[in-house]
Amino acid sequence: MRVFVTRTLPGKALERLKERGLEVEVHEGLFLPREELLRKVEGVHGLIPTVEDRIDAEVMDRAGKSLKVIACYSVGVDHVDLKAAQRRGIRVTHTPDALTEATADLTLALLLAVARRVVEGVDLAREGQWRAWHPELLLGLDLEGLTLGLVGMGRIGQAVAKRALAFGMRVVYTSRTPKPLLYPFLPLEDLLATADIVSLHAPLTPETFRLLNRERLFAMKPGSLLINTARGALVDTEALVEALKGHLFGAGLDVTDPEPLPKGHPLYALKNAVITPHIGSAGRRTRERMAEVAVANLLAVLEGREPPNPVV
Ligand code: DGY
Repeated sequence: MRVFVTRTLPGKALERLKERGLEVEVHEGLFLPREELLRKVEGVHGLIPTVEDRIDAEVMDRAGKSLKVIACYSVGVDHVDLKAAQRRGIRVTHTPDALTEATADLTLALLLAVARRVVEGVDLAREGQWRAWHPELLLGLDLEGLTLGLVGMGRIGQAVAKRALAFGMRVVYTSRTPKPLLYPFLPLEDLLATADIVSLHAPLTPETFRLLNRERLFAMKPGSLLINTARGALVDTEALVEALKGHLFGAGLDVTDPEPLPKGHPLYALKNAVITPHIGSAGRRTRERMAEVAVANLLAVLEGREPPNPVV
């Protein structure tokens, strides 16, 4: 049986596939052109894609009837046409748990960086503008006592909440339905109006596309802060640029729409926007674990067992 892996993965997980007698091809390189993806999937039984690869009906049909499993190297599966997979009887799996703590860590890193103007400070020092200590230099937000509003309260949202409590923040959340948690549940509109910091942890679906549209961004509390480590398309980027020019204190974005954010994009010109290149899960141990989970899911399906982390 053959497996195609669309990027090199850290760690030794792929060796397990070879030990089980599978033929494994790994694409090396930063980009995988669409034409090459279509060629490489022909006749494979398993596919391990990353969030960079759009896995739609065309890819599945080029793979053909042999394709049994798409074992995503990610927790998000918005890059896979789940209905097309389901219609063809192809299992889709993902890597929840493995990246929860790492993504929560980066959420806090962005939150602290924006609230305390860390990047502005680094730039100022590096550019030789650090001339003296001054009581009013780079004043930011004190986190203790602020209200953190989490949009989405799955694994990552809850891991962020835990960290926020350690900083003395109050946590409120919204999600499709209230959960049996100690944090207060609020409808989205109430959360936006009351939270000092809004952090997004919802999956991207047709229902959550541009969840934070212009109206909602401007309904956020004046002087508040937005953090997005989930998916860029949850936010209307153009409206966010406007909101950052006065209404919001700042934004920390690990994901953007479009992604990657092109050179010269207006967001880069804003000092109160801290942007990282989709590295939420980029802890070495986390990325190795994600490979192990993807491999375990793939092997389970190919060996006729129920995968540990099925999506469909
Ligand atoms: C995911 O897993 O969905 C992240 O976006 C990449 O690790």
